[in-house]
Amino acid sequence: MSKLSPSILSADFANLKRDIAMAMSAGADMMHIDVMDGHFVPNISIGVPVVKSISKACDAFLDVHLMISQPEKYIDPFINAGADLINIHLEAEGDMAGMIKHIKAQGKKAALTVKPSTPAEALFPYLPMLDMVLVMSVEPGFGGQSFMPGSLDKVRALRAEIDRLGLDCLIEIDGGVNLKNAPEIVAAGADILVAGSAVFGADDPTWAIKEFKKL
Ligand code: DX5
Ligand code: ZN
Repeated sequence: MSKLSPSILSADFANLKRDIAMAMSAGADMMHIDVMDGHFVPNISIGVPVVKSISKACDAFLDVHLMISQPEKYIDPFINAGADLINIHLEAEGDMAGMIKHIKAQGKKAALTVKPSTPAEALFPYLPMLDMVLVMSVEPGFGGQSFMPGSLDKVRALRAEIDRLGLDCLIEIDGGVNLKNAPEIVAAGADILVAGSAVFGADDPTWAIKEFKKL
């Protein structure tokens, strides 16, 4: 069964505690937190103090997606704030293997992410070190965009390589995921679906989460 990581980017920022509690009690497996620096992506979202407050206010596993140019500087602050998984972009600056080791040495889960223009093969050398890879199925930076169908081939390529090597690395997909395209995404081999607008923008978010969980 696939897991669901609702993205709080589409939640009500003035009512995050309420929205996260709703999502978790409806059956979400974790919460996806999009951190943007206005440099790696053309948008600014939330930072360390907000993650700290969320972590204090709820028990959810926090899946932190860093869309920032210099992740190395912020790994420790986000871990100290309560992140359970740190997800870094392969296109960002810094020593990827060193950062992955550093995250894991602190007992946290480590993930790498690729933008739509980066091939799946660029992740292959890191797979044995990783708990998760994230395939971006939109250009990172904004919620509510349309799913890029080309990302399904990337999921298939990663699935084949992870299975060939017999690894535990999970595959997450993020961007434009909805109840309509989710079955095809799961069939391609994704383990975790991130959904922002398809959850928090739904008329009935609780119903939407339950439907995602039936997949
Ligand atoms: C986009 C973010 C996503 C975003 C997804 O850069 O990484 O997590 O919140 O939003 P939807 O599901 O609306 O495409
Ligand atoms: Zn994200």
